[in-house]
Amino acid sequence: MRPSEKKRPDLPPDNFRLLSLGNGGDVDFSEVIDGLRQTPKSIAPKFLYDARGSELFNSICTTDAYYPTRTECGIYRQQAPTIAAEIGADSVVIEFGPGDMSKIRLLLDDLRPLTYVGVDVSVAQLEEAGPPLADAYPWLEVVAVCGDFGPSALLEEHLPRGRKRVAFFPGSTIGNLDPLEAEEFLQGLRQMLGAEGAAVIGVDMQKPLAVLETAYNDPEGYTCAFNLNLLTRLNRELGANFDERRFRHKAFYNEQLGRIEMHLVSVVQQQVRIGEQEFDFQPGETIHTESSWKFTRSGFAELAGKAGFEVQRFFTDENTWFGVFVLRVK
Ligand code: SAH
Ligand code: AVI
Repeated sequence: MRPSEKKRPDLPPDNFRLLSLGNGGDVDFSEVIDGLRQTPKSIAPKFLYDARGSELFNSICTTDAYYPTRTECGIYRQQAPTIAAEIGADSVVIEFGPGDMSKIRLLLDDLRPLTYVGVDVSVAQLEEAGPPLADAYPWLEVVAVCGDFGPSALLEEHLPRGRKRVAFFPGSTIGNLDPLEAEEFLQGLRQMLGAEGAAVIGVDMQKPLAVLETAYNDPEGYTCAFNLNLLTRLNRELGANFDERRFRHKAFYNEQLGRIEMHLVSVVQQQVRIGEQEFDFQPGETIHTESSWKFTRSGFAELAGKAGFEVQRFFTDENTWFGVFVLRVK
């Protein structure tokens, strides 16, 4: 090979493409304003993931306190051949919210799909994780799609036709959707997958309160920084004037609902401006920034059933802290 023909390491590999859905790559901040106008105030969790937010999430995953990542990865390390045998090769794998794309790597050698499509709102994550994935698996077509994975027909045009489709939704990101949203998501998924489709979904299970609350209040402070970074993002991208020192991170388990709630608490009475608009905060008033629903095996099976799926296999760890469901279209 002449020097001019050498592959440049700064260029994406030939088996990699970055596309946009045009519904979330350019974040629609009107949703943020609407959420802050409601009582109680809330902002959808997808806004947590700018470049810094994605980086902080990846740091959370390295902590002892945040057990879901290592527990789920342990399940894939142990069960990848069995999961692959259930699903079969030569499929199109569509991953929702892949983040750093590390979990799919645990399945690829066994699963042997032809195409991998990762859909994420965080363009920074897709740009960082996509090319190395394509480099490491030169036999795989890697398509990174920037956008919101919520119900939409837009993704369809980026998916190859005529091949078996397999959804991969790890990390219990499905738990960041409220139950009705999760059901709606699964119904859309069922349509997208078609009659032969399958899904591999990782969900966080109910467990003792102390374990749950520690996971969202790690001693290193990454979760606190992840939550507060939302305000920094809104200051930068929306021209807001949040003072991060006047808000604090709060995360607790709502036992009645079966979910962790993450909030930003206003420490004082204050007024915040976003462009021309003003928002009043009372001392102790919160912005609800994320829910993280925790499941039971039967509860998740019921949810999947309502959307037209049946559970083919269920894998878990020795403590039943995390569950991986292999679903088939009914
Ligand atoms: N799957 C990885 C990352 C989980 S973090 C893991 O299990 O560790 C959640 C990921 O989903 C982030 O990368 C975030 O950017 C993405 N995400 C969150 N809400 C989204 C939405 N509505 N549409 C698309 N991506 C979303
Ligand atoms: C991505 N998602 C499932 C994580 C969770 O556990 O709800 C996000 C997260 N929030 C705080 N820590 C981690």
